[in-house]
Amino acid sequence: VLIRVAYAGLNRADLFQVAGHYPAPKESQMVPGLEVSGTIEALGEGVTHLHVNQPVFALLTGGGYAEYCIAAAGVTAPVPDGYSLQEAAALPEALLTNWLALVHLGHVQPGQTVLITGGSSGIGTFAIPMLRELNARPIALAGSPEKQEICRTLGAEPVDYRSASLIEDIQQSAPQGVDLVLDMLGGPFIETAMQALRQGGKLISIAFLQGSRLDMNAGRLLMKNLHWMGMTLRSQPLEMKCRLLEDACARLWPALTAGRIRPVLDEVFPLEMAEKAHARMQQRLHIGKILLEVGP
Ligand SMILES: NC(=O)c1ccc[n+]([C@@H]2O[C@H](COP(=O)([O-])OP(=O)(O)OC[C@H]3O[C@@H](n4cnc5c(N)ncnc54)[C@H](OP(=O)(O)O)[C@@H]3O)[C@@H](O)[C@H]2O)c1
Repeated sequence: VLIRVAYAGLNRADLFQVAGHYPAPKESQMVPGLEVSGTIEALGEGVTHLHVNQPVFALLTGGGYAEYCIAAAGVTAPVPDGYSLQEAAALPEALLTNWLALVHLGHVQPGQTVLITGGSSGIGTFAIPMLRELNARPIALAGSPEKQEICRTLGAEPVDYRSASLIEDIQQSAPQGVDLVLDMLGGPFIETAMQALRQGGKLISIAFLQGSRLDMNAGRLLMKNLHWMGMTLRSQPLEMKCRLLEDACARLWPALTAGRIRPVLDEVFPLEMAEKAHARMQQRLHIGKILLEVGP
């Protein structure tokens, strides 16, 4: 599908790629940009479920910071009713990363308690309402009162991850232990996550923002029969990404179109100011998704 890009979503992975720490996959481009919204300009042969001029959102392996991009049809979907093109650009990474982590790998069940790190991030602000929709109970870590407040507004119990009594604070919210941790911190937090989990709980690592070299007591992994998994959406085969989009949309479309799940938008920068947008993310000034505006 050839898409005339309206907005591109910013992801922390773009910062890593620009810094040279996260090379694009071989089949992909050097140009950053993992997700876009826009209008279909042309369709490839055999694509029948989409049409020219249709407003869509799409997951990419790169190349979204551009006027035009090509996306696989199976990871392109119509903009949900009631969504703006801005909101749609914030969907692909958050929807599919959270679906892969929480549902496909985590098998989250109604009534379960889920601890999310980075509660005010693009990923976190989507995970909270998604978990509520799945009837799970989110506890979210965030680093400032303002960021904790947004987590509370979205439906999570916020916890300050900079607190000296972090584990006690989490245990106060979940005295029986949490069922699942969705973690982007890594570093010393891994030991805290293992402490917070109940017997047989699951720890899903999606990033190691506080370090991937660990000096820890891993004994709890055995004694609590924990499951520790890692994942990256970008490295999944295309067939898997298509399946994730299909499954996530089948389950969550009513919540998306009714506005029960809606991305939290931060600032929108013109494409020419991508560097400034990256700086805002680097300095962690944002809450939710930063977008780049490409065209009308
Ligand atoms: N594995 C995957 O497939 C996958 C897919 C998408 C995203 N991710 C990862 O998930 C994370 C969230 O993505 P995003 O695009 O939503 O990013 P983001 O909005 O920049 O979120 C980063 C979050 O991490 C927290 N944080 C804590 N310690 C940090 C540190 N030392 N450096 C930077 N941030 C720190 C920040 O919390 P405070 O601001 O409260 O401090 C912030 O909420 C990123 O690491 C991204 O690479 C992984």
